Amino acid sequence: MKNELLTNPLLPGIRFWVCEDYYAMSRKAAAIVGGAMQQKNDFVLGLATGSTPVGLYQELVGMYEAGVLDFDKVRTFNLDEYYPISREDCQSYYYFMFDKLFSRVNIKKENVHLPDGSAPDPEAACKQYEASIEPVDLQVLGIGSNGHIGFNEPSDSFIYPTHVVNLTANTVKDNSRFFESADQVPRKALSMGIGTIMRAKSILMVVSGRNKSTALREAFEGGIVPQVPASILQLHPNVTVVTDREAASQIVSWT
Ligand code: GLP
Repeated sequence: MKNELLTNPLLPGIRFWVCEDYYAMSRKAAAIVGGAMQQKNDFVLGLATGSTPVGLYQELVGMYEAGVLDFDKVRTFNLDEYYPISREDCQSYYYFMFDKLFSRVNIKKENVHLPDGSAPDPEAACKQYEASIEPVDLQVLGIGSNGHIGFNEPSDSFIYPTHVVNLTANTVKDNSRFFESADQVPRKALSMGIGTIMRAKSILMVVSGRNKSTALREAFEGGIVPQVPASILQLHPNVTVVTDREAASQIVSWT
């Protein structure tokens, strides 16, 4: 099956690509990221962690190995990091990014940025990170099953800058699959805020699996509310959502 493009005249800044499966989704997402990177040498790429973008990162590594992509001048800013956690900890997002992408391409170590999960003063680390973020050309996002983006959890208001987050029980449970037990999941994180994310010039959200279908529907077919943090993306002028069939199974008002 070919990837299917869905649009909605009420939300002209957003397009959906529905792909057959996870593999097709990852390839489509990599074509979008790679195509954008080829337009600009000193590309600023916003990055996400989680299981969903792993296939995208594999594809980008393949494009680098094939000589199609060059990361020499690319600078990256990750959405979030657990707190407290050391960079050497294999559960840290710092470790994850080197494992999945950075150590496999020619990116310069000084050009990669993540919030500092081992900073003694987390509030100061958030301020410092927020100030360091350059204008992001393309921000990669996943979505939590509760509608979170980065670690912006459902809340009564949208929080603008990078901030310290108390993870919800739902997120601790979801992310415990990467740990030996739920007790080992850090209860806090440092995350780009909603405003930080919305400043990106373009956004690419990757979504896979039936367990994300409700969050995806609520984000793009419901009201813009802080209880569904991803719903704010309806206000962004340039969002591409790349999903597999299962994740898109509850989407009805896009054709
Ligand atoms: C984590 C990350 C998010 C990510 C989400 C979904 O909590 N902070 O950035 O989008 O989980 O992860 P997964 O792709 O593993 O479902």
